[in-house]
Amino acid sequence: MKGIILAGGSGTRLHPLTIAVSKQLLPVFDKPMIYYPLSVLMLADIREILIISNPNDQPSFEKLLGDGAELGCEISYASQDQPNGIAEAFLIAEDFIGNDSVALILGDNIFYGSGFGALLRSHLEPSGAVVFASRVHDPERYGVIEFDENQKVISLEEKPVNPKSNFAVPGLYFYDNQVVSIAKSLAPSSRGELEITSVNNEYLQRNELTVGVFDRGIAWLDAGTFESLNQASTFVKVIEERQGTKIGCIEEVAFYRKFIDEEQFKRLANKYAKSGYGDYLSDLLLRKSPHPTTRPHK
Ligand code: TTP
Repeated sequence: MKGIILAGGSGTRLHPLTIAVSKQLLPVFDKPMIYYPLSVLMLADIREILIISNPNDQPSFEKLLGDGAELGCEISYASQDQPNGIAEAFLIAEDFIGNDSVALILGDNIFYGSGFGALLRSHLEPSGAVVFASRVHDPERYGVIEFDENQKVISLEEKPVNPKSNFAVPGLYFYDNQVVSIAKSLAPSSRGELEITSVNNEYLQRNELTVGVFDRGIAWLDAGTFESLNQASTFVKVIEERQGTKIGCIEEVAFYRKFIDEEQFKRLANKYAKSGYGDYLSDLLLRKSPHPTTRPHK
């Protein structure tokens, strides 16, 4: 399965922070924002990853992550000239996707919770589409799912004025290869975007949409406003300082998912020798009992 991180957009809700810097390169506590969605794809054992950004920002992403070889991944880059909508990702990535299935994650979405990696790995290579539903207090900002009394999905609506439930669709989607032709068939919405909700509605109509409901043990944050960016940093800081484990640490995930061996991992730790980040990586090798959710994969 291939993976796409959509890290373009205009970031207008974060101006002036995002005039000279991509939103997805801003810090969320101790890491660039894009580390979080990248770590999610890696937790799903996806190693071939395309990062889509604005043309101006592409060199910065390349400087940060290179070709991904250090992480045991293959990272490539493409640009989206204008923020024409999330579903445009599948048109830009058509050659990259080829005949494979694909996961898409938004570059400003952060996920954390017990069992999350295993949940992801249970949805690889889907037949049809898999999206998730997460309870939020402000569903009108998102795609919203309506369920019937048997938990069957009735409808999906993008940013409805009167949401039919409190269940929003987070920016993490798994699709089979039909997604490319579906995206090609879309017309821009009234706000001029190729909507991901239209893609999901097409799968719903084909009776090929699966919705996994996050229980309250899984946190989903986005970081698109001053308030939510600050909340995300605070969330990461509190968990990391209390537990002594990191969220979104791509080097740790690469090691524990066995994308890289101990020698490669030590080289990464040495790269950050002068910051606490390197100390954390070095200390991982000394831990007697690894954190359960990052236990080496057998
Ligand atoms: P949004 O938060 O909807 O948009 P934005 O990032 O442009 O910000 P603002 O509303 O403040 O102007 O986008 C969610 C994520 O999807 C974000 O990581 C950017 C990405 N995105 C693209 O890369 N291309 C697009 O065409 C759109 C709509 C979003």
